[in-house]
Amino acid sequence: MIVTIVIDLHCHLLPGVDDGANDLAQAVRMCEIAHRDGCRAMVATPHLRHERYENADRRLLEQAHRGLCEEVHRRFGDELKVFLGGEIAVHSQSLAEIDALPASSLLPLAGSRYLLLELSTHDLGPDPVEMVYELGLAGWRPIIAHPERISWLVSDSGLLAAIVDHGGLLQLTAMSLTGAFGPAIQNAADHMMDQGWVRFVCSDAHDERIRPPGLSAARRRVTKEWGRSVAQAIFERHPRAVLEDRPLEPTPLPEARPASPAGSKTQGWVARLKRLTSR
Ligand SMILES: [Fe+2]
Repeated sequence: MIVTIVIDLHCHLLPGVDDGANDLAQAVRMCEIAHRDGCRAMVATPHLRHERYENADRRLLEQAHRGLCEEVHRRFGDELKVFLGGEIAVHSQSLAEIDALPASSLLPLAGSRYLLLELSTHDLGPDPVEMVYELGLAGWRPIIAHPERISWLVSDSGLLAAIVDHGGLLQLTAMSLTGAFGPAIQNAADHMMDQGWVRFVCSDAHDERIRPPGLSAARRRVTKEWGRSVAQAIFERHPRAVLEDRPLEPTPLPEARPASPAGSKTQGWVARLKRLTSR
């Protein structure tokens, strides 16, 4: 029997350290939602080096993680595991700080060689293509968090393609795919899916209501639009490889979606590809 384990690699579960869970009780309520939705492993990824959430004291984060794990184990036993990682805001010092690991206090995902990187929404910072390439040469596996929500990336498909070609692993937010952030972000997410660039879909949950955990709605849409084998890779096999610190297998090629009726909110795969290549 094949056991499916859905894993959420990006959520702000750690209580009291950023704009995610305020306290342990809220973190546990978020875990309940995730568990009910079918999630069996989560990586708590507090903002690191964010302009508002520096989180430079790793011991404090590890302490908060231990407290959360004890409570999660008490409530869910072996049915839900919470690992520790971080969402690293990229700025000019990031490469030097990553280079200093483990002496620096940055946190890779679940102790692996995978790094979850958040590019600035308003400032280009280091060249992202050079950055992912350099990190790859140093043995890291860089994951780019929610590129569909970063307007300067969305508007430059050639840059995104170069990031992917140089080793950047793209992670979409589940709510982007389901349309909760509006049609522009959904279209950007769809385009990345159509291209076969996406390796992960995560909740990036911050609370129980506005940004809740849960991947099943996005998974249903990925299965319907791009095929079951793509969904299995993105929601199960790739995140599992992260937890086991293995390289990713190739993502199966996405099935071409049927063209939507003219004038509908989303345009078909072929139409979008034509538009892209005609620029
Ligand atoms: Fe996040």
